[in-house]
Parts: sequence; C-alpha cells; structure tokens
Amino acid sequence: MADWTGAGRTTAEIYLTMAERELHKVSPSYEALCRAVADSAQVCALLDQLPTPKRQPNLLLGAVRFLDGPVDTPARFLDFVRSQWGTVADVMLTHRTQTNEPGRCATLLPLLATLDQPVALLEVGASAGLCLYPDRYAYRYTTNGQEHLLGDSSVSFACAVTGPVPLPNRLPEVVWRAGLDLNPLYVDRDEDRRWLASLIWPEQTDRVARLNHAADLVAADPPRLVVGDLLTDLPALADEAPIEATLVVFHSAVLAYLDQDQRNRFTDVMHELQAKRDVHWISNEAPGIVEGTDIEPTPLGRFVVARNQVPVAVTAPHGQTLDWLIQSH
Ligand SMILES: C[S@@+](CC[C@H](N)C(=O)[O-])C[C@H]1O[C@@H](n2cnc3c(N)ncnc32)[C@H](O)[C@@H]1O
Repeated sequence: MADWTGAGRTTAEIYLTMAERELHKVSPSYEALCRAVADSAQVCALLDQLPTPKRQPNLLLGAVRFLDGPVDTPARFLDFVRSQWGTVADVMLTHRTQTNEPGRCATLLPLLATLDQPVALLEVGASAGLCLYPDRYAYRYTTNGQEHLLGDSSVSFACAVTGPVPLPNRLPEVVWRAGLDLNPLYVDRDEDRRWLASLIWPEQTDRVARLNHAADLVAADPPRLVVGDLLTDLPALADEAPIEATLVVFHSAVLAYLDQDQRNRFTDVMHELQAKRDVHWISNEAPGIVEGTDIEPTPLGRFVVARNQVPVAVTAPHGQTLDWLIQSH
C-alpha cells in the first residue's frame, strides 16, 4: 500500500518508485531527477541523514525549486544538492509536503451535492484551505462528449467523468468552513505562496495558474485555519460547526503521510465523532489508505473517493477525472 512515510524502503527505492509510479509520462523532468538520485550513492547518503519521512522526493524537489536551484538536468540538480546540502536540508526539515490542489473540489462536489444542505465543511490536512471553497469555483464536467457547466467564477476546473455520476445543477450551500493542519499555510504570505508553487511539478504549468487564481479568491475571504493534529484536535473543531448544518469532515492526499497505526487511530477518531453526531466522512486518498477503499484492480496513480469508507469513485490525483463506481444515491 503506497504511503509517504518511507517506512521499510531504502532511499534509492523511494526515489525509483516515485519515478516509475508517479512521474513516468507525467513529469519527465522530475522522473529523470528521481532516477538520478536513486543512482547516486552520495546523494542517497545525504538524504539518509534526515528522518525517514523527510526523505520524500516531493520535499527534495520542492526544496531545490524553492531555493531557485536547477531542475533542468540531473547533473546540475545533483551538483546543487551536494554543494548546497546544508541549505537544502534546512528547507526539507522546516517544510512539509503541502501541495494544495483546489481542482480536487471537482471530484468532491457531486458527493457534497447529494447531502442535505446547508453543509459545514471541516477539512483535515487543509494546507492553505483552497479545497474548502467548492461553492466558489466553476466546473466544466465532460461526459460522453457533452459538457456540464456549473458555477460562475474566475476559477474554473475541467473534469472528465464516466459512470452514473449524479452531476449537480446547484453548488453546495456552505455556511461554515474550517481547516485543521499541523502547519497551515496562508495565501496572503509571499513565502507560503512560493512554497505552494515550488511543490507543483515543472510540466504542470496550468496548475500554477490555477493555484494563483484560487489563492487570490481565497485571500479575499480567508478560511479559519487551525493549527492541530487530525489525531487529537478534530473533535474540538467539529464542536464549533453549527448543529443545524450537515457536517462533512473531508480530506484529500493527507492520510498517506501517516503510518498504519496513525491511520487506524484516525479511523477510531472518526467513528467516535460519528457516534456523537451525524457526520459525513468523505475521503479522497490512494486506494487502501482508508480502510475499506482497497478496490480491485488497484488503479495505479489514482485516488479513491469514499463516503464513510465506502468507495464511490476513482479519481485522478489533481481532480482531472472522476470515474463513478456506484449508482447515484
Ligand atoms: C499534500 S497536502 C494536501 C492538502 C489538501 N488536502 C489538498 O488536497 O490540496 C497534505 C496536508 O496534510 C497535512 N497533514 C499531514 N499530517 C497531518 C496531521 N497529522 N494532522 C493535520 N494535518 C496533517 C500537511 O501539513 C499538509 O498540509
């Protein structure tokens, strides 16, 4: 089962797996860099000085970009990492992989629209909170050559859908939104914006524009972002949600950063919360990261959207596709 803790794998294996499974045909430049790191005993030895979860490829690649280092050729990249190791390591130790992809809202929206309105949204692992605004973006779903347009916004997401997806005709009504994160990022801080941009892979220029537009939109009406751990601080924040709204706790691309024991504990936290209040748990994670979502055949490089641990759809990681699995509710 994929995770980003790196547990049980050598640094070379971590980088090679990243090259083969995540970057191949998606980011040729980063694929070459990760293969080069895997082949460099010297750079692997430097990375081995860091705690295992800090050896993540996205963290190294983001750190070099943040420092305006070269990512165009493996030779120049490796040379920069070796010669600037102290600075690179410092950025890796003081930053987290916090890619915030608002396009993921396109994959959450159909499920949100099936719930009783209005909704209160609580995102765990919210990063800068860009996914807390599904009601403020516009969507262009395409299915069987037909377009389904929704919303009127300067920020628009395209999503190709298959299956009996219940495409909504109305945006959700969000009356409360809050995010919980170990280290929230703030879109009105230049350094945080620069870090968010550094985490986007070089070939994905459309994502940079999307990030900037969504960040401007969110900066105009910032969300409540709380510093905290999803294992300990969720119930207190959930208590703040208005009782008359349908409470949705959701997360995307977060639980892969937890080890198996921590994921089990989070499942317990969610079950305890659901025993006290009607809470809808929506997850968008790699297959199997949430118990009950290990669908067969495992779709490589895809996420599974689940509602209360029941798989509903397979999605592309940045919200580009949505393949609905079940009959609409
Ligand atoms: C890859 S980002 C995903 C951000 C956002 N959910 C999205 O889909 O765009 C993962 C986020 O999870 C946060 N995170 C990781 N472990 C956490 C924990 N135990 N408690 C709270 N947040 C956590 C990180 O700080 C980071 O901001």
